[in-house]
Amino acid sequence: MDHAIIVEKLNVWIRGNHVLKDIDLKVPQGSVTAIMGPSGSGKSTLLRSINRLVELVPGTRVKGKVMVFGRDIYSEDPYRVRKDVTMVSQTPNPFPHMSIYDNVAIGPKIHKLVKSKKELDKLVRWALEKAMLWDEVKDRLHEPPTVLSGGQQQRLCLARALALKPKILMLDEPTANIDPVNSKKIEEAIKALVRDEGITVIFVTHTPAQAVRVSDFIAFIYNGRIVEYGPSRELALNPTHELTEKFLRGEIG
Ligand SMILES: Nc1ncnc2c1ncn2[C@@H]1O[C@H](COP(=O)(O)OP(=O)(O)OP(=O)(O)O)[C@@H](O)[C@H]1O
Ligand SMILES: [Mg+2]
Repeated sequence: MDHAIIVEKLNVWIRGNHVLKDIDLKVPQGSVTAIMGPSGSGKSTLLRSINRLVELVPGTRVKGKVMVFGRDIYSEDPYRVRKDVTMVSQTPNPFPHMSIYDNVAIGPKIHKLVKSKKELDKLVRWALEKAMLWDEVKDRLHEPPTVLSGGQQQRLCLARALALKPKILMLDEPTANIDPVNSKKIEEAIKALVRDEGITVIFVTHTPAQAVRVSDFIAFIYNGRIVEYGPSRELALNPTHELTEKFLRGEIG
């Protein structure tokens, strides 16, 4: 089986705090993996280790290996890594002084992915369609993102991440602060991206039902360690570790 991501013995310290401990994880190409675990367990840090955003925090030390499509990302150009492995962060953070259009266009412009305005227009539209936002913004592309609702802003950030044509998409609690209708759209968008574009997705969620609906595999993290990993339905219905069981019953986290 081809793996999009292989993490081996990954350890991360942030200002002396041992945040990730001996993480091993293999993510098959074209699959969806849900990361679950209590607050502070290291979920966001794990995502940020897979595109090297973690090292932007001063005082961070990373040990171990992260391979993306067979290449050790810690020996690569971090900008290239972040183009191939894009991320939507926990709270929507569109660039407030840029238009909706420019929020999506900025990445492809910087990375010189397109040669003409026409090509750029096409890519922006594609990304907004894939983020299931196009119909809601097509008549106001040149307005600032502040005219959008929180859920729409989250999908704008998804479009911004997709405009880089990533191989891997990471979403950190993409539906945590948004309503059911917007959540459903994000879930549908993830499934379609995997099905139609072959993108590999990792996302963090606090909702077991969502993990089962959307993901193929669940990794359960507790206190910086992966304590359980397996096919989503099996893990959610039949957890083998006591901590996973407690978490799923809502007793921790
Ligand atoms: N920039 C930072 N500076 C200092 N400590 C940090 C930083 N980022 C994360 N940490 C620490 O690393 C640990 C894991 O944090 P992380 O954000 O990865 O958890 P999480 O599982 O995503 O939690 P949540 O569910 O609340 O988002 C925490 O103890 C946190 O305090
Ligand atoms: Mg987090």
